[in-house]
Amino acid sequence: MMKLSLLGLAMGLVSQAAVAATSAPPLENKQAFIDHLISQMTEAEKIGQLRLISISPEMPREKIREEIAAGRIGGTFNSRTAPENRPMQDAAMRSRLKIPMFFAYDTVHGERTIFPIGLGMAATWDMNAVAKVGRTAAIEAAADALDMTFAPMVDIARDPRWGRTSEGFGEDTYLTAKIGQAMVRAFQGSSPANPDSIMAIVKHFALYGAVEGGRDYNTVDMSLPKMYNDYLPPYRAAIDAGAGGVMVALNSINGVPATSNTWLMNDVLRKEWGFKGVTISDHGAIQELIRHGVARDGREAAKLAIKAGIDMSMNDTLYGEELPGLLKAGDVSQAELDQAVREVLGAKYDMGLFKNPYVRIGAAQNDLKDYYGEDRLHRDAARDVARRSLVLLENRRQTLPLSKDATIALVGPLADAPIDMMGSWAADGRPNHSVTVREGLRRAIEGKGKLVYAKGSNVTGDKAIVDYLNFLDFDAPQIVDDPRPPAVLIDEAVKAAQQADVVVAVVGESRGMSHESSSRTTLQVPANQRALIEALKATGKPLVLVLMNGRPLSIGWEREQADALLETWFAGTEGGNAIADVLFGDYNPSGKLPITFPRSVGQIPMYYNHTRIGRPFTPGKPGNYTSQYFDEPNGPLYPFGYGLSYSTFELSGLALSGNKLKRGDTLQASVVVRNTGKVAGETVVQLYVQDASASMSRPVKELKNFQKLMLKPGEARTVTFNISEEDLKFYNGQLQRVAEPGAFNVQVGLDSEAVQQQDFELL
Ligand code: NOJ
Repeated sequence: MMKLSLLGLAMGLVSQAAVAATSAPPLENKQAFIDHLISQMTEAEKIGQLRLISISPEMPREKIREEIAAGRIGGTFNSRTAPENRPMQDAAMRSRLKIPMFFAYDTVHGERTIFPIGLGMAATWDMNAVAKVGRTAAIEAAADALDMTFAPMVDIARDPRWGRTSEGFGEDTYLTAKIGQAMVRAFQGSSPANPDSIMAIVKHFALYGAVEGGRDYNTVDMSLPKMYNDYLPPYRAAIDAGAGGVMVALNSINGVPATSNTWLMNDVLRKEWGFKGVTISDHGAIQELIRHGVARDGREAAKLAIKAGIDMSMNDTLYGEELPGLLKAGDVSQAELDQAVREVLGAKYDMGLFKNPYVRIGAAQNDLKDYYGEDRLHRDAARDVARRSLVLLENRRQTLPLSKDATIALVGPLADAPIDMMGSWAADGRPNHSVTVREGLRRAIEGKGKLVYAKGSNVTGDKAIVDYLNFLDFDAPQIVDDPRPPAVLIDEAVKAAQQADVVVAVVGESRGMSHESSSRTTLQVPANQRALIEALKATGKPLVLVLMNGRPLSIGWEREQADALLETWFAGTEGGNAIADVLFGDYNPSGKLPITFPRSVGQIPMYYNHTRIGRPFTPGKPGNYTSQYFDEPNGPLYPFGYGLSYSTFELSGLALSGNKLKRGDTLQASVVVRNTGKVAGETVVQLYVQDASASMSRPVKELKNFQKLMLKPGEARTVTFNISEEDLKFYNGQLQRVAEPGAFNVQVGLDSEAVQQQDFELL
């Protein structure tokens, strides 16, 4: 009786039932339900489920609906809003088996409300802030009739020439893994089936951030221990947090493209990690196996990809064209096809689409009047996270915070740049919603001080670069140059500066400069902007440089010119308000760098947790046959974990609860942190561990934990970290994850360089 009514309920919910046959197992039983569905499918319908297409304005809608109704498409990306997606889902409901479509999009750091780019999110070192980004993005994306996002992007980036450094969470394994996990949980909520959740597809598996020379799409060559210790954990953390899918990287790994890499996709991902979700190729990646030189032709490419375990092909026709022949010839087995289909259907099941194909599309009478309306935005959340993402790099003579009564000259090509404020991969963010720095400052000082604005320079004086950036695949031209000669622009800015008490110059990169396919060979602020800075400096007025950029820049020269330096990344819809909050002291900056800032491009790769070596450099002793460049200091310009506040903080009395750690026990490291300044503020206490002597050379230090805390002026608090065997484990030369007995150093600091140290022994 009970069984019958459950079945009836299930059948009712399956909205005209994906599987109409009376023998269909109940929807509650995922595996049986999917197996039964597969048993009903024709080969063409199965292959159709593996096809993920990009919806672009050029694609005839009628044709797409026909294809869907014929069971030849499994999902789309780039189409959003209920009125757009509903007709496609209706078409799926007209297909023979009524298998629902899913709708995906790159909702990376926001959907309508744009939050700071990945690096900015990471600079908050604040998992509540990160969760706010993911949750808000999911709510807005789900309301845009989206089921899935191609995020989080957890590629470790240690070569800032790579434009996609902007999208990730920096150079550190632990911090990136933490953020990746928080994002997955926030996107998916308690279940990816919830109407306000979207499924997370972690990307780009694997090692995409390690492309040689930082040149996008280039090859990756890496030792296995480095891979396992530094690069793979964030993907695994996202998967352990429940990410429903994995997007496969475009690069090769030690000679084998990820898309055809059976070791990576089967041995590591499925067998070692137990991943059960869907895998999706990156754009056109199956076809690219031919250009990688591992497939003779399309047929071989399709075969390699499906055998490697690539379930869905993104905007690639090869599965459709080649799988029938491959199956017929027995080169691909029915079981291999069924497995890929099972995973796609499993993801749809997990997104709640079999239960209700319209779970996020909703009913037509509930469609929004204006999907682009102001009322869709979550501005408070965006401002809160944006403020937390800003990193104060310099503040000489307490130039900041500024007085709201001052006359401020606001200059620079990025001072009034609504498109750039959003950063790359800004989903459906709209520039007209962006608060620029100009607008943020104007609002902040309204009725008090005075703002004099002059552009001062274009982003770059290099026409070829402008053409390149405008050619990139964005909806509108990214860079609209002021046609006046550079000298005229500078002259206007200098005049503005001369009338002012202080100059705020917003300089750096346009968003397209830190994007997919936007690798650079230099990390400098473009020359024409430097000429502007030089002219502003010559006025003798206090100079505040506000940086907008999606990668560490080598700003040694700028640091000398500036009285204050604020790193703002691309801060999103509320960026201008957030920057004003910090410039005027309405918010005390608390961001810390999630990535090292090198002095020059020649130092790359430069990251704090490099492996120990036999001849380390000794500061102050040049020419002593140690590892160094003779023409530049060894260290970074700004280290990982660094960032100032309007307050000052002091650490003291690092103590361990013991000097021996037994396996299974924990050791406590405690330290007193005191706000020695005059204003309340937050800081991040960072715990690093060094394996003093091991079977392999280990990093000089590795981040193992951190705590962000707010302290009133004069307030002191003890921060305690637990250290256990888990924190000491690493993959050794045989790829066994071990904690080796012996000495360890514990380092605690407010950045990765200025640390206090204690040691203990693991028994
Ligand atoms: C290519 C990019 O590499 C990937 O990150 C993105 O998700 C897809 N295109 C879809 O837009």
